[in-house]
Amino acid sequence: MKKPLKFTLVSCLLALLFVLAACSNSNATKETDNKSAESTNSSGRDIPEMKFKLAHITSTDHMWHKAAEKFNEELKARSDGKMELEIYPASQLGTEADMVQQVEAGSIDFAFITAAYLSARTPEMSAWFAPYTFKNLQEASDASHTDIAREILGKIEGTGLKGLDYLFAGQRTMVFKSKEVKKASDLEGLKMRVTPSPPLQMFYKEAGAAPEGLPLPEVYSALQTGVIDGMDIDLDATITNKYSEVAKYVAVTNHMVWPSIVVTNERMLDGLSEEAQKIINDSLQAAIAYAVETRSGQEEEFKKELASQGMTVYELGADVFKEQIEAFDAEYSAKSDLIKQFIKEFRK
Ligand code: BEZ
Repeated sequence: MKKPLKFTLVSCLLALLFVLAACSNSNATKETDNKSAESTNSSGRDIPEMKFKLAHITSTDHMWHKAAEKFNEELKARSDGKMELEIYPASQLGTEADMVQQVEAGSIDFAFITAAYLSARTPEMSAWFAPYTFKNLQEASDASHTDIAREILGKIEGTGLKGLDYLFAGQRTMVFKSKEVKKASDLEGLKMRVTPSPPLQMFYKEAGAAPEGLPLPEVYSALQTGVIDGMDIDLDATITNKYSEVAKYVAVTNHMVWPSIVVTNERMLDGLSEEAQKIINDSLQAAIAYAVETRSGQEEEFKKELASQGMTVYELGADVFKEQIEAFDAEYSAKSDLIKQFIKEFRK
């Protein structure tokens, strides 16, 4: 007997709903199974046995790599060895853009992404590059714990991308291949490498330089071959990348601070027990504090090291860049109330 059309349609709909329910259930079961496997451990603690992937762009002797190692040590110690990191330094897993995509897809669990790179997708991040706002790393680190810094962190855009915290490297300096720049107008016409980032580009343009957005791995050869005349960089990377082989001058300007954002995949984190999340957070906090403390004590040592490699090392203060600071504040305060508030609160 021929079934009525209405009956057939209802049957098909029910079958479809059943298949969908089965699929979503199988995900839930997987999570539940994982969770119970995570929970069943001899200490009775709700900690998963997990190896997380962490990626970053710096070499293994940069502070960010040391912070990653400290994060790993703390994770292992606090989880009775159940949680650990597999660390991929030096852009082994690709550029910052690649790493962000992989964190979003869940194939990398944590990454250190420069706030400079993120400022192109999350304009509020530009607040951190207001020139000469912080005297030292400790001041910037203190600022990172305030409500306004947390609000900026929460603005990171990306599917499933979550900013956990700020991790600082040394402040920014300027390295020149062959010209000793002593005043802002000496920058006129110089091709200056910057991390591709709108606020950095704006600052150098304002001084009459021609900023070139170049990622870190391309800088050495660009300087060597004269594609650039100088660069915006930290002392750490100047040492670890051996720029003294291809450049003569270091102006210790400390004109900007240099945070990275520790990002994670929100789904991965939310899928963990509260206890496991707390271990991750506490371990990360220990690594961040270690980096600020260690790096703060290395300023003089790094300047001496570069001088001993034959570079001329000299200081340039905020008075040299007065006009550029004013221009930056005016332009970026007009872009966002959050940036305006940030500058007002922290510029002393
Ligand atoms: C840079 O692009 O200049 C940079 C990135 C990460 C750490 C240090 C420097």
